[in-house]
Amino acid sequence: MSELTVRAATGLSAHPTIDMRTRLAGAPFPNPVFTASGCAAAGSELNQFFDVTRLGGVVTKSIMMAPRSGRPTPRMAETPSGMLNSIGLQGPGIEAFLDRDLSWLAERGARAVVSIAGGSVEDYAALARRLNGRPGLTMVEVNISCPNVEDRGQVFACDPHAAAAVVAAVRRATAPEVPVFAKLSPDVTDIVSIARACVEAGADGLSVINTLLGMVIDTTTLRPALGGITGGLSGPAIRPVAVRCVWQVKQALPDVPVLGMGGIRTGLDALEFVLAGADAVSVGTTVFGDPTAPIRVLHELAHALAERGFERFRDAVGLAHQPPAAYVPEEPDPVGDEPEAPRPAVGFEDEL
Ligand SMILES: Cc1cc2nc3c(=O)[nH]c(=O)nc-3n(C[C@H](O)[C@H](O)[C@H](O)COP(=O)(O)O)c2cc1C
Repeated sequence: MSELTVRAATGLSAHPTIDMRTRLAGAPFPNPVFTASGCAAAGSELNQFFDVTRLGGVVTKSIMMAPRSGRPTPRMAETPSGMLNSIGLQGPGIEAFLDRDLSWLAERGARAVVSIAGGSVEDYAALARRLNGRPGLTMVEVNISCPNVEDRGQVFACDPHAAAAVVAAVRRATAPEVPVFAKLSPDVTDIVSIARACVEAGADGLSVINTLLGMVIDTTTLRPALGGITGGLSGPAIRPVAVRCVWQVKQALPDVPVLGMGGIRTGLDALEFVLAGADAVSVGTTVFGDPTAPIRVLHELAHALAERGFERFRDAVGLAHQPPAAYVPEEPDPVGDEPEAPRPAVGFEDEL
């Protein structure tokens, strides 16, 4: 499968012929557009809008060992150009996930990127062991934006040692051919130091970024709008932060594959991440308003690349890190040409 084919469901016009294949740590994907964890459950809900096997990959909601009911309601608040959520990793637990969700993805031939979350290093290792060898498992994404119950609730992703300990345990418990990606939090002073710690601990790639910690206060009730008080900010509001994080990580670790995300709504948004260094992108919050968004973004990205003269997606990855193409001046005017008469300033007379 070498060329992009996006048709039907979304009623989009004919696609350009462009090689959209990508690789993440040796794993081949037919195209670079994935769902984002927590924004499309395990893919079956999206499948009523388009065939999820047409995406590069389906990143599932972070799964924990035991079933969880999540945080108190309300769990969502609107923000300018974004959304604040405090779902609190509600989920069915690993056993139900394996029986129902992962088998569903595997039967359809979707490339499942399974996101895992835990409260201790051992939780993460146990999840990786349960996933090991399961049909349909293409990649593991380690959600380290969770409080470490063994360290006063300090978030793993905010401490390079804790982040590294989780990654090393998951890497050890996972088959070598299955890439392990660590998902970074932007809520740190130096994202590169966390990225480096994860890679040195064995991460094959990095997912960049998770939500930013935020808060909304309801001016009618005069209290926090979310039951969980704070929540994760996502959507277009965070895109420049996410692009900056992808850029910094790619600049420091150019050989490490990156799955970029944060506020992608269109193909041009996705292209920004690709130029900053993302080898693939995840589409998250936008899906709540437009369930066809991932497949539309794929289509728009292919068009955007074709319009800019690319024949292969891979050629655009990280391109913004290269110096701009050299300026080539036009041929000088032949000697003796009359200088051009000065032009009147447009609208000048109207202003008098
Ligand atoms: C409602 C909601 C639930 C999320 N759940 C998870 C999750 O379970 N695990 C995770 O790693 N990220 C989770 N995220 C973060 C997204 O995967 C993504 O990293 C982030 O929202 C930025 O992308 P976006 O702006 O396109 O949504 C969640 C985001 C939202 C909005």
